[in-house]
Amino acid sequence: MYRVMRNPKYDFIGQSYATSYPNLHKYPATMIPQIGIEIFKELGIKKGKLLDPYCGSGSSFTVGLDRGLNEMQGFDINPLAVLISRTKFTKVNLEKVKLLKQRLRNAVYEFVKKEESLKLLELPKFYNIDFWFSKQVLQNLSVLKHFIDKIKEKDIKRLFLVPLSESVRECSYTRNHEFKLYRIKSEEILNFNPDVFGVYFDKLNKTIGIYESYYFPKLTDAKIQIDYSKFPKCENYFDIILTSPPYGDSKTTVAYGQFSMFSNEILGIKYARQIDHLLMGGKLVKEKYNNGLIVDYIDKIAKQSIKRSLEVSSFYYDLESSIKDVARSVRKGGKSIYVVGNRRVKDVQLPTDQFIAEKFEQNGFKHILTYERLLGNKAMPSKNSPSNKVGVRKGTMTQEYIVVCEKVKD
Ligand SMILES: C[S@@+](CC[C@H](N)C(=O)[O-])C[C@H]1O[C@@H](n2cnc3c(N)ncnc32)[C@H](O)[C@@H]1O
Repeated sequence: MYRVMRNPKYDFIGQSYATSYPNLHKYPATMIPQIGIEIFKELGIKKGKLLDPYCGSGSSFTVGLDRGLNEMQGFDINPLAVLISRTKFTKVNLEKVKLLKQRLRNAVYEFVKKEESLKLLELPKFYNIDFWFSKQVLQNLSVLKHFIDKIKEKDIKRLFLVPLSESVRECSYTRNHEFKLYRIKSEEILNFNPDVFGVYFDKLNKTIGIYESYYFPKLTDAKIQIDYSKFPKCENYFDIILTSPPYGDSKTTVAYGQFSMFSNEILGIKYARQIDHLLMGGKLVKEKYNNGLIVDYIDKIAKQSIKRSLEVSSFYYDLESSIKDVARSVRKGGKSIYVVGNRRVKDVQLPTDQFIAEKFEQNGFKHILTYERLLGNKAMPSKNSPSNKVGVRKGTMTQEYIVVCEKVKD
């Protein structure tokens, strides 16, 4: 087993993501940038090329900028994640943004005054749309989308799409405090008449405000490239990996795809409903994972449920293959920093931190350290029912692990 040290310095009690760099958009299971900033300081990382292969809403790039790095690359299969990250880390002309905001407001105002123009508007079509949105909400969202689509500068347009994405969810019949999609009760629907334009323009102001105060001033000439795809390996290129990978497959842990579904639909993403299947562990394997220290744990799960052991195996097969690609992409002397939680399935706590250290060691790295921190601030459901018994609820994860390895072989 790889040694784990409890390190309270990394608990950041009383702090949240927003304490130092508020996010532009809600996103599940974000990593607080403070962790990365502190570990970079501790390891003396001030330069080099950074990669985040599962970048989500981009906290690794916040860390990179804070520490003065000038080349970063990120990947995520979820287009919403890429939209948020790109918006935060692209420099735009703020005067132009403010002018376009005023124009958008005027255009919407003039447009909705005329009944005829509303009739001509094409409403978005996606499966079961009436179940989730009222006609009025859909119409108003479509007016906003119609005018946002007229913004030609694509970097600026993103600042207008981010609040649209949040408004879509907020104005739908979903329960807002959940990541998965659950509809509000039928009796609540009658009283639910959100002011779509009010919600949107309020969020637009906030988005621009946060961007202007927290991200824009940090945007130097650093090159930050973010793509929506799986990470494609490139030999011996990066110096630092900083990432927080998923804890398990989306279906049974954090449903990133489901959380982002309406946003991705309104952004015109054709595979919006398939995202959870495309993410790590999304395709069910037929054989149990059979290599290294995780095997005993998976066997324990298999004794209770073969199906669950295969679901868990799917995740570890994918994580292993991704670590292989990541490891090859780091130059000798480079470091990998993975921030991860050990989830519980069928009452078995899966040591994903150990798995990560083991796989890096199998791919030319040496384990340097693992810190344990208390998980108080992660934006994710902290409890579930691991044994699937009604009423039995256990805290699944109260700790998180920062696993640091260094590449020692070419
Ligand atoms: C824990 S989140 C990352 C959160 C991020 N650090 C932040 O602060 O927002 C994990 C991310 O991995 C992405 N993901 C899952 N499987 C992936 C894969 N095979 N390739 C790329 N990204 C993946 C998910 O979409 C999700 O955004």
